Amino acid sequence: MRITIITIFPGMLDGFLRESMMKRAVDQGAVQFDFVDPREFTTDVHRTVDDRPYGGGPGMVMKPDPLAAAIRSVHTANSRVIYLSPQGCPFTQSKAEMLATASKHLILLCGHYEGVDERLIQRYVDEEISIGDYVLTNGALAATVVIDATVRLIPGVLGGEGATEAESFTTGLLDFPQYTRPEEFEGLTVPDILKSGDHGKIAAWRHEQALDRTRKRRPDLLDG
Ligand SMILES: C[S@@+](CC[C@H](N)C(=O)[O-])C[C@H]1O[C@@H](n2cnc3c(N)ncnc32)[C@H](O)[C@@H]1O
Repeated sequence: MRITIITIFPGMLDGFLRESMMKRAVDQGAVQFDFVDPREFTTDVHRTVDDRPYGGGPGMVMKPDPLAAAIRSVHTANSRVIYLSPQGCPFTQSKAEMLATASKHLILLCGHYEGVDERLIQRYVDEEISIGDYVLTNGALAATVVIDATVRLIPGVLGGEGATEAESFTTGLLDFPQYTRPEEFEGLTVPDILKSGDHGKIAAWRHEQALDRTRKRRPDLLDG
């Protein structure tokens, strides 16, 4: 998969893409990242990417023309343009699964200021994604969330380190509680069942625990 990030702040993502799982995914050849800075597509001496909003009001709006040129510079028949926006569809695990399996080239457009000119969205954006009901300063952090949740689901990236099938949301439930050594920690012990060696009973216990905490913490997941 190729992921192009269109941002005026590439430095905000640089460290994230060079560490841990993202670095491993790049080293494996599972994913390739590149950046496009809309300032490269401006024509004035100040490399202006924003302007005042029509109709007045505070803040600035990202101009459509440099963004359009930035998108066009990398767009192919395999590209899907996603605008990170608080007004987009909420990002979910199933969305991450879909992006991980069905995408060849994602173009992630990061807004700034008051957002981007609506006509750019109308003309160039396939989909808007929100990472939650709050407003960030710009889309770079939101892009890291979408990238991380998606890239770790590309087959082979996690290797033996994680079985994603049993994770929270993938099964429709929250994950069961996890324990590791030591057997006793500050007076708290590991449940006996997990030391029993009976895999059938352990699986049943974990399922019950997952159901129980989903009921208590996220009953909305059980609706329907
Ligand atoms: C300050 S925000 C603009 C908010 C916009 N005026 C509004 O109220 O809907 C600037 C940029 O940050 C990004 N952003 C902010 N919150 C986000 C969220 N919850 N999910 C995804 N992107 C977000 C978007 O790219 C947005 O263009």
